[in-house]
Amino acid sequence: MGLKAVVLGAGKGTRMKSDLAKVLHEVAGRPLVSWMLEIVAASGIDETVVVVGRQADDVAAVLPEGVRTALQEKQLGTGHAARVGLEALDPDDDDIVLVLPGDMPLIRHETLEHLVELHRGTGAGATLLSCRPADPTGYGRILRDGADHVLGIVEQRDASDQQLAIREVSTSVYAFAARHLRPALADLSNDNSQGEYYLTDVIAAFVADGLRVEALGADAIEGEGVNSHDQLAAAAAELRRRINRSWMRSGVWMQDPERTYIDADVTLAPGVRLYADVHLEGATAIDADAEVGPSVYVRDCRIGAGARIWYSVLRQADVGIQAEVGPYVSLRPGADLREGSKAGTFVEIKNSVVGKDSKVPHLAYVGDATIGEGSNIGAGTITVNYDGHQKHRTMIGDGVKIGSDTMLVAPVSVGDDAWTAAGSVITKDVSPGALAVARSPQKEVPGYAARRRARAEQEQP
Ligand code: UD1
Ligand code: CA
Repeated sequence: MGLKAVVLGAGKGTRMKSDLAKVLHEVAGRPLVSWMLEIVAASGIDETVVVVGRQADDVAAVLPEGVRTALQEKQLGTGHAARVGLEALDPDDDDIVLVLPGDMPLIRHETLEHLVELHRGTGAGATLLSCRPADPTGYGRILRDGADHVLGIVEQRDASDQQLAIREVSTSVYAFAARHLRPALADLSNDNSQGEYYLTDVIAAFVADGLRVEALGADAIEGEGVNSHDQLAAAAAELRRRINRSWMRSGVWMQDPERTYIDADVTLAPGVRLYADVHLEGATAIDADAEVGPSVYVRDCRIGAGARIWYSVLRQADVGIQAEVGPYVSLRPGADLREGSKAGTFVEIKNSVVGKDSKVPHLAYVGDATIGEGSNIGAGTITVNYDGHQKHRTMIGDGVKIGSDTMLVAPVSVGDDAWTAAGSVITKDVSPGALAVARSPQKEVPGYAARRRARAEQEQP
């Protein structure tokens, strides 16, 4: 008796009012459909088919290996989608088939496992997951008889006032006996207010055929579907709470978890300290005792142990052990700050190595450069890396002192221990240990101020 799954993700997502397929909208850095697939993967399912339609190729591209797709060319409803998925899945008669919506990121895998247990234990034809949200508007209501047996599901748009008062709703997560699901899907009609084939109608059909239908109640929050941007934000808020709680329990300090935004694939070591308004996105990894924030945006970066970062933006950068970044730093792709180095106030660094213990403390642009160890880059320094056609590299050795406001016109190199004078425009390589001065000598015009004042007085009428 195999356990297989169909995830429905072909819907138009009309209520999102967006060009992006609904299941591709992201929460905590993952598309909606990926959340459901992760839960499916954690629940011991042998085989999964995702039904795709809108932006089918883009949806297929985010699916993990081993998950197949089935194309629903026209979005004729959830019942039709399930049929398309079931055909592709082609289960054995005695398999259990789970049918799940692609827009429900808050369900827990334990809940799915309980559903399967209940289904197996009772030998039901269908077992559905229901919940009781504070506001059931928009969901299909569960109809029960006097003995509390499930009779069917009625959609919001087709429900009577009396049925609309029912608080118990369907989450659209089901376990079915494959042998009974196949004929029930084939027999669905689209005789309803939307002219769609409703998966929900399968339940009444099972009951009519004398098959047992069970229901498992889930926490209301787990059943929350995402159909609109306000529901997307609500789901993101709940996932944020879960992610932050889990990191805090593993030893991460947060100044304000309500204002800390961590994507699902970020990793944090115990002892990390996060101040308010920190955004950690993508594949970011932060090592022990690093302090990040307040007000830091980080995407796809590695941050070493004990590093200190505040009021800054970091993308695809490496920050070494004990390095300091900020305030007001932009680290762009390929910025590689080694152990004990520093990028200070108003500094931009891209595609460059800042060697161990080297410092770029103020107002600088460092692009396409390699800086050795223990060097200091003076305030206002710019690597002039672009000649209008091509980018060129600046090589700076160990123990170098670049004077304030130096222009380093690349390609150019500055040897170990060398100096540049403040205000220099360096166009030629600087030898190790030398001082390069490249600026016009200072002139003095004596008595200038008095002469100027006298001229101004003469011109007065
Ligand atoms: C559906 C259920 C409703 C339940 C609610 C729970 C139906 C008719 N209604 O309503 O009872 O309370 O979920 O959230 O089943 N999809 C396709 N192809 C289609 C139509 C939809 O693949 O032709 C997919 C969507 O991408 C989505 C899922 O099916 O992932 C559910 O569709 P949606 O339109 O969101 O259904 P709801 O109105 O939320
Ligand atoms: Ca939905």
